Amino acid sequence: MNSFKVSRRDMLLGTGASLASLAVSGNAQSPAPAAERDPIPVAPTADQIRRMEWWHAAKFGMFIHFGLYSQYGRHEWAMETQAIPITEYIPLARQFNPKPGFARAWAKLAKAAGMKYMVMTTKHHEGFCNFDTRLTDYCATKQGPKRDLVREYVDAARAEGLHVGFYYSLMDWHHPDGARCATDEEARKRFVEYTHGLIRELLTNYGKIDILWYDVSSPLDAKGWESERMNKMVFELQPDIIVNNRNKLQGDFSTPEQKIVAETNGRAWESCMTLNDSWGFQRADDNWKTSKTVIRNLITCVRDGGNYLLNVGPRGDGSIPEESVRVLTEVGHWMDANGDSIYKSDLCQPRRANYASFTRTGNTLYMHVHFWPGEDVAISGLMAKVKSAHLLKNKQQVKFSQDPYRVHITGLPAQAPDSPITTIVLECDSEPKQDTNFVRNNKPRAGV
Ligand code: GLC
Repeated sequence: MNSFKVSRRDMLLGTGASLASLAVSGNAQSPAPAAERDPIPVAPTADQIRRMEWWHAAKFGMFIHFGLYSQYGRHEWAMETQAIPITEYIPLARQFNPKPGFARAWAKLAKAAGMKYMVMTTKHHEGFCNFDTRLTDYCATKQGPKRDLVREYVDAARAEGLHVGFYYSLMDWHHPDGARCATDEEARKRFVEYTHGLIRELLTNYGKIDILWYDVSSPLDAKGWESERMNKMVFELQPDIIVNNRNKLQGDFSTPEQKIVAETNGRAWESCMTLNDSWGFQRADDNWKTSKTVIRNLITCVRDGGNYLLNVGPRGDGSIPEESVRVLTEVGHWMDANGDSIYKSDLCQPRRANYASFTRTGNTLYMHVHFWPGEDVAISGLMAKVKSAHLLKNKQQVKFSQDPYRVHITGLPAQAPDSPITTIVLECDSEPKQDTNFVRNNKPRAGV
């Protein structure tokens, strides 16, 4: 073991550059080189750190796309991508009538899946408001539902102890000023007052709201939307809220969509993704992700310091498609046994393996084996010394050996002990880092 210690120190001394290069070239989901990305944001302020503390600990949230498009069942963009005349679309508002208790089922499912917050569409691009408003009749209380769907959602989320987020699309295909605001100053002023007014109602009438999740800013820019004034109002109404960056300001966090791209410099980020290929209900979309894929995505997000916001698209009656329920229930079972490796994770540098990925808490490395190879597994180039190893699911100790190049875990069962991913816990003597370039350059070759 002494010789190991000496070698390890040597390795650490010589590997700063190779560790850095690994961070940008490790695999397809690593962050892009800084030069190819937006200007690096400044480090979070003390106020952001305070407001975002719960959110960083939460890691996993449920996104819900629900509106008239849910009734129609052909994706939330159907109104535009099929160029449905407004007169044909509006009748959906009268037919829309979610069954009682729909939101309670969403919140129970989110909680069972291990999610800690929810973000629901209060108004999507179609312009229909799921809440009670004095500013338009095109809203849930005055159309088919005759109820405030946002109120039901807020109450349901709170009943399950989940944080409450509001999605709000700035773009609007229904409002008469929704397009002409780009070219007509009077229309812009009216539309900005309407938009700010709806946001004011949302952040006044439902108690403490945890997240405001803006979406599509077309056709205006931050100046056109008066986004500085918008956010100022938001923080006056809700001093603890966090906001995203889609009203063309930086806000509190970035929103990579359908991909996992880490931010730098402590900037917060959340990757949002669909469970199939649609955000809103599309009855024929059968391209479902598996629970294994969902968990691997969650692992990748938290490994790199981000959150994962996973979408469901309920039907018009509020019911979540059975495939989504099945996948999220499986994810929840896995989280019951493996949640510690997710919720408590710190930034994790190791990432090179062909059948596993990693998360880390302090000096503990979690090896998440998604393709179980059989009786033994190995990690290349781990620079920390492993003190002990066990299976997370049942706490059973596992045998291992370590040389300067390899940690070799042996005597494992032929079949994976957990499904869909088995987590092996490696307690190390320092922060686990990996340097596979060291292995490539130094591991003795044939005859040496
Ligand atoms: C895109 C889509 C929208 C969806 C959103 C979620 O902006 O236009 O339909 O709500 O992504 O991030």
